[in-house]
Amino acid sequence: MQIQENISLRQYNTFGIEVYAKYFAGFSNMNELARLTEQAHKDAVIVLGGGSNVLFTQNINGWVWKNNIMGIEELGEDNSFVYVKAGAGENWHRFVQYAISRNWAGLENLSLIPGNVGAAPMQNIGAYGVELKEVFNSLEAFHLREKKVHTFTAGDCHFGYRESVFKKELKGEYVILNVSFRLRKDPVFHTTYGAIREELDKMNITSLSIGAVSQAVINIRSSKLPDPAVTGNAGSFFKNPSVSKKQYAGLKEKYPSIVGYENADGTVKLAAGWLIEHSGPSEGTGWKGYREGAAGVHDRQALVLVNYGGATGREIYELSKQVLESVYSKFGVTLEREVNVY
Ligand code: EPU
Repeated sequence: MQIQENISLRQYNTFGIEVYAKYFAGFSNMNELARLTEQAHKDAVIVLGGGSNVLFTQNINGWVWKNNIMGIEELGEDNSFVYVKAGAGENWHRFVQYAISRNWAGLENLSLIPGNVGAAPMQNIGAYGVELKEVFNSLEAFHLREKKVHTFTAGDCHFGYRESVFKKELKGEYVILNVSFRLRKDPVFHTTYGAIREELDKMNITSLSIGAVSQAVINIRSSKLPDPAVTGNAGSFFKNPSVSKKQYAGLKEKYPSIVGYENADGTVKLAAGWLIEHSGPSEGTGWKGYREGAAGVHDRQALVLVNYGGATGREIYELSKQVLESVYSKFGVTLEREVNVY
């Protein structure tokens, strides 16, 4: 296990922001992680997975640890499910593809999400009508102060929309080591969300399979979302905000094309992309496609901020502040950042 000093984090965050970490180390198992906790003692630590949900706005005057715990293991099965454990450092999409190749169903709608397995429960990743919590079985996490491994069931994780206990009550206390999934032997297809059905028709799919659903999701994502290998970004920069039914009715009256979906609790989740596209500098496209230096708002999905190359984290953050303020002043709705800002 090698400890490096003053190293650039550019290759460790998908925004491609150049900041430096005072100390940097990767760990491949729990023993290495335990050794690092000894070394860091009480210093502040940031643990990185794939770096796909962070924005660095300054140099890190402490430790950055990269989770490199690998391995995929079949734990067992019953009549309906296969139980599979994956190391937190496994690339998410590679894990999804592995499951599809074995005919294990449930992950196909979550294809092509950037990042690693360990970050998936952290923010209960979701896309195209499926959330991680639906395929989650349990996880093991290392408590940094107690230096002990604890097992978390779905109930323990308090999953919400892009939320879990690890982003709230237990923030900074645990490092996720591995995640176990409950995958179906017989698929249950989720094809009603958004453009999936349309894409499957375009692909001339007559008999549905998890491979086909995965490919449809890959096609849709690639057409809308920038590839971080080409243009720096961290997926949706903001969450979709929820408002009361009453506030929604008022907005709908004033802005008939506004997009909202009713939540189970009666509140309404607004498409932040729509709000961003309908506020800001341009009459027709709002912030969509807006660019200031190397920082910008993606031209095909307004919820995504991009680094065209060489932007600083501060510049991206400032742009996000302008977007936030302009959405608030036009619609009276406060956007919340989904990305973790350091
Ligand atoms: N919309 C606009 N303008 C835009 C973008 C979207 O009007 O620039 C409207 C669309 O017309 C559509 C609605 O907003 O009616 C929803 O758009 P989309 O299906 O693209 O999804 P989203 O709500 O913008 C969420 C997730 C994405 C996920 C997609 C698909 C959040 C914060 N984002 O985006 O997740 O891929 O749904 O399920 O919930 C991520 O979290 O990083 C992410 C990419």
